[in-house]
Amino acid sequence: MEEELIKLQTNVSSLIIACDDSDELENIRENFLGKNGDLTEAIKRIGKLPADERPEIGKLANEIKTTVEEMLQDKKKNLSGNATNTIKVDAIKKLDITLPGAKPPLGHLHLITQALEEITSIFEHIGFARVRHPEVEWDWYAFTSLNFPENHPARDDWETFFIKEGIHPKKGQMILTPHTSSGQVREMEKGVLPIKMLNIAKCYRRQSDVSHSPMFHQFEGLVVGENISITHLKGVLDYFVKSYFGPNRISRIRPYHFQFTEPSFEIDVSCGICNGKGCKLCKAGWLELGGAGMVHPNVLKAGNIDTKKYSGFAFGWGVERVLMMKEGLSLEDLRILYSNDMRFLEQF
Ligand code: FA5
Repeated sequence: MEEELIKLQTNVSSLIIACDDSDELENIRENFLGKNGDLTEAIKRIGKLPADERPEIGKLANEIKTTVEEMLQDKKKNLSGNATNTIKVDAIKKLDITLPGAKPPLGHLHLITQALEEITSIFEHIGFARVRHPEVEWDWYAFTSLNFPENHPARDDWETFFIKEGIHPKKGQMILTPHTSSGQVREMEKGVLPIKMLNIAKCYRRQSDVSHSPMFHQFEGLVVGENISITHLKGVLDYFVKSYFGPNRISRIRPYHFQFTEPSFEIDVSCGICNGKGCKLCKAGWLELGGAGMVHPNVLKAGNIDTKKYSGFAFGWGVERVLMMKEGLSLEDLRILYSNDMRFLEQF
């Protein structure tokens, strides 16, 4: 009987392997495992075998049954896969390659990145080199070397993020840089003169409202060399304003106070809506751009620069603000720039 069972298994296995049709496969199952199938009939006869042979033959019959059932199941899966393939092939046959294809959606640079690239290119044309300085910074570079006395309230004015664990024996508290001016003394420390740097970086302040975000971007220009004066600063400002905002725009400087520049200025740009005449947006014809000034001698000294021989100017502005001024964007909430809302971002 053992031989008979093995022969049955060999036959049915070859039939299953050769089978390429689901109906035929069902017939094979019926003929082998059905009520009157070959294996079913053989199993019925096991009961008539001598008692000592029955367990072994019974075990063999069960193993063959399980193996054949698994083979049938696998084959069934294969045949239904083929059916899907046939459908796919049919679809391909009907494909009209002359029809226009479906265009995959194309992304683009974030509008702040676009602004950064444009600003960089404008300054590179007049010899500024883009540099990068750390955004996790020491108090020394962000405040003390910039002529802020110890415990000066400006550390609070700048709404600084202090990093609790980080304290440098000489450079003080570790902070997230609140402004790009922290790159000034770092640049001077490189010891290469003249300096014409453009430092663009993310800045961080504990501010979050409709016109402030906790993370924003600034770009900072620093020029240090011999005989650098306010006229050079004014020339650079006018060049930037005309290149970025348009040829009809002009800049003006107003006295102001920064700890690290002397004299210090606020820079305004003439309003693009009314051309400086005064309108609802600007009120008096001017829009505020940001700060600037002549580098304070104490800052030059902190950067080991000879103040008798060298002088310099610096300016630092918010990228988000200049972008909004350029595009005439009046965002209800500046933070939308960083909310990843595609409905907003796709417009640019
Ligand atoms: C400064 O940060 C000075 N370091 C600028 C400077 C550089 C002056 C060099 C002189 C010489 P102020 O804090 O005003 O200045 O910031 C400059 C600009 O950064 C602001 O005009 C504004 O456009 C932008 N800004 C400041 N805080 C935020 C904020 N939380 N969100 C968005 N933009 C901001």
